[in-house]
Amino acid sequence: MGVPQHIAIIMDGNGRWAASRGLPRTAGHTQGAKNVERICLAAKKLGVKYLTLYAFSTENWSRPQPEVKALMKLLEGYLDRCQKTVEENKMRLRVIGDITRLDPKLQEKIKDAQQISAIYHDLNLTIAINYGSRDEMVRAMRKMCEDVKADKRLISEITPESFSEYLDTKDIPDPDLLIRTSGELRLSNYLLWQLAYSEMYFTDIAWPDFDEKELEKAINAFSSRDRRYGGIQEEKNV
Ligand code: FPP
Repeated sequence: MGVPQHIAIIMDGNGRWAASRGLPRTAGHTQGAKNVERICLAAKKLGVKYLTLYAFSTENWSRPQPEVKALMKLLEGYLDRCQKTVEENKMRLRVIGDITRLDPKLQEKIKDAQQISAIYHDLNLTIAINYGSRDEMVRAMRKMCEDVKADKRLISEITPESFSEYLDTKDIPDPDLLIRTSGELRLSNYLLWQLAYSEMYFTDIAWPDFDEKELEKAINAFSSRDRRYGGIQEEKNV
């Protein structure tokens, strides 16, 4: 296998990175946000077409309010700055997750950034904000049921492919590779449907320290894996 077309990342370990340096957790998130720009550039250079990052989960609202506020501020700051990165990287930005719960100002910034960047295709960056897979699937099911009720879709037409069209990721191919940093071996409600056939790569490196070399290491590990039966399509029959 060559370079994965789509890499999804669970950017874990910001808090521990900060604690190990005697810094507040929010300093870890600030460093983590800086790393997003470094990894976007590296991914593009290595030929990755889609990068999907877990920035804020539906569960993260239960963190201490100052931490939630700091994360929202970092996301807002990223969106303010991203026009330059978007142009430099010819990058299309998308946000997945239920953004209706976010501050209206942040929602506007998301819409603007998505609109401005829609002309680019070199790198597709997707940021998951207020995202949880179960929530995404329930929202998708509701939309699908409404279509059935309005006679726009037959129950017999519901298939894995047609269901995918109702998900937030409808325009994005499924990830080839999932990376989780900082040693945890869980999916944490991230892209559960989309990761059905993805390779997994776990590393002990904390997200702020996950640099170009670490990304390359993950890609090399992916490339050297031998998929039995020669590929995903055949694997589905096993
Ligand atoms: C997990 O680390 C990380 C998060 C919950 C937030 C990820 C957010 C960023 C990297 C910054 C903002 C993102 C963008 C796209 C600008 P943790 O806090 O759970 O760390 P710990 O497990 O060590 O406590």
